[in-house]
Amino acid sequence: MPHNITIQNTEKSRISEVDFNNIGFGKVFSDHMFLADWDGKEWTGSRIVPYGNLSLSPATSAIHYGQAIFEGMKAFRTGNDIFLFRPRENWRRLNISAERMVMPEVPEALFLEGLRTLLNLDKNWVPDSTGSALYIRPFMFATDDFIGVKPSDKYCFCIFTCPVGPYYAKPLRIKVEEKYSRAAPGGVGFTKCAGNYGAAMYPTRLAQSEGFDQVLWTDPVSHTLVEETGTTNFFAVTHQGVITPNLHDTMLAGITRDSVIHVLKNNNIQTEERPLTISELKTLHAEGNLKELFISGTAATLINIEGFAHQGEYYDVMKTGNTVVSDLLRSQIDSIRHGKSADPFGWVEKL
Ligand SMILES: Cc1ncc(COP(=O)(O)O)c(C=O)c1O
Repeated sequence: MPHNITIQNTEKSRISEVDFNNIGFGKVFSDHMFLADWDGKEWTGSRIVPYGNLSLSPATSAIHYGQAIFEGMKAFRTGNDIFLFRPRENWRRLNISAERMVMPEVPEALFLEGLRTLLNLDKNWVPDSTGSALYIRPFMFATDDFIGVKPSDKYCFCIFTCPVGPYYAKPLRIKVEEKYSRAAPGGVGFTKCAGNYGAAMYPTRLAQSEGFDQVLWTDPVSHTLVEETGTTNFFAVTHQGVITPNLHDTMLAGITRDSVIHVLKNNNIQTEERPLTISELKTLHAEGNLKELFISGTAATLINIEGFAHQGEYYDVMKTGNTVVSDLLRSQIDSIRHGKSADPFGWVEKL
């Protein structure tokens, strides 16, 4: 169903104020944003307006009861061409989160038309330096001004974008988490609801105060199985091939994770999705068979793990400086995302 999107252009673009050689991550916002409102029955008021503050009641339901979900995706520039990477997967996952949080479904046409109209308007904000991209943040939150725990009747769906550089500058030191949990079986770990990230902040802050970059989450029951890190999925490379933890409801099904698995298989690299224990990682390390560890995510892309700490011991994985498989993946995925090589999986959509 086509959605009539009204457009209010900004009076003065801010783009000339931006130093594209120093954009960092998540601090610079493009000129416009897309908005639509769920009125309890249907999506209304699809519109593009200048990026700016929203006016909300202090009783806004999302702030109190947490019906707030989001997505993260990227667009890439090659010359004058802009490419979106697997946007329909983000649309699908947004609706998986929406269902679990009792929020309305966002129709594919609303999501894609809003996205394309916004990106066409703010095309010049897609950067082209190496490692940069336009980060796209679609999100939905409950807007009833009502105190009392119940699903909201009204919601706001919004998309804004920011030109970004690399999320991490160097390989990461991670701490295996054995006390705190990010998610529980039967809970909401498989969704991108805001609360998952709030819950992760305290253990992450503790790990950072101990000199680590990130927490490696383990299963919430035995704390022996590897799950994922704060915003990425996890991969281990051995002489035999690649292992990544199999998905379950305490983990986010990363779109980059799925892309990595496809590209690995396409390169005839043996790839296993299966339970992976910390003790197996330590045994592989002791045998000299832990060739590379890396993590994958839209924001982080593909980043190597320098080493991991478990029960006070640090296991350095990058001593040998081996990043053969991660380098191969980085270059092949990057080239597909920029429309520079064949796209055997049909992942890329040109704007
Ligand atoms: C908890 C978590 N795991 C994994 C990922 C990686 O997912 P994707 O590759 O779709 O960005 C993310 C990022 O969205 C995340 O927040």
